[in-house]
Amino acid sequence: MKIVLEDLSFSYRGGKKVFEHLDLVLPGRHIVAITGPNGSGKTTLLKLIAGILEPDSGKVIFDGVGSEFLRFGFVFQNPSEQFVHFTVEREVGFALENFGYDSDVIAIKVSEILKEFGLYSKRGSSPDELSGGEQQKLSIASSVVYEPKIFLMDEPTSYLDEPGKKLFFETVSSLRRRGYSILWVTQDPSELKLSDYVLLLEEGRVTFFENTKRFLKDGYDSI
Ligand SMILES: Nc1ncnc2c1ncn2[C@@H]1O[C@H](COP(=O)(O)OP(=O)(O)OP(=O)(O)O)[C@@H](O)[C@H]1O
Ligand SMILES: [Mg+2]
Repeated sequence: MKIVLEDLSFSYRGGKKVFEHLDLVLPGRHIVAITGPNGSGKTTLLKLIAGILEPDSGKVIFDGVGSEFLRFGFVFQNPSEQFVHFTVEREVGFALENFGYDSDVIAIKVSEILKEFGLYSKRGSSPDELSGGEQQKLSIASSVVYEPKIFLMDEPTSYLDEPGKKLFFETVSSLRRRGYSILWVTQDPSELKLSDYVLLLEEGRVTFFENTKRFLKDGYDSI
């Protein structure tokens, strides 16, 4: 799903302007890596796209519709902060309950997803008892279960060790193969090669936005 930001301006209440007249078109069904220094606006950009923050002016359009009609998948830096239920199973089923599915359907979908993500044997465990990598898997599984169009990931690997990262990359690659659109904030240059496009943000301005192969060839020196 294509995302269009049109003449978007935003500042936090009483703060300085983060974005001023930003125009941007993000291609759908790809992984776009968003990178740039601390404070450049990466997290704010994800929140504006998700509709968590309202722009002061301008708008975000998704293949012609507003964000209120869309389901987003979120993956945060520290997944444990987003878990609210006592078991892995309940955590995954929660969103489906909110969307009003029957309990029979929920039970089937939850089992399927947990098996797919290799978490079925942990279904009765508390999310707190999972490893960091398993928690990121749970975080993705809890979103995949309600079939969002767009995944927004904010530095999802920062608390993962090498095996955890490997597991995470495999999961993201499989989401991409299945046609999801993924916006992935990362400050780790070694992760950029997993993306299709690289977007470099500096002080709220897009200073580079290219196909990743070209970025790795030409743009690498600028980060
Ligand atoms: N809740 C807030 N209230 C006021 N200002 C904020 C708030 N959150 C962020 N900012 C400011 O907005 C700007 C962009 O912040 P943002 O968190 O989007 O940057 P970032 O690129 O995600 O940084 P990081 O790499 O540190 O995560 C910064 O100048 C920051 O200080
Ligand atoms: Mg951030």
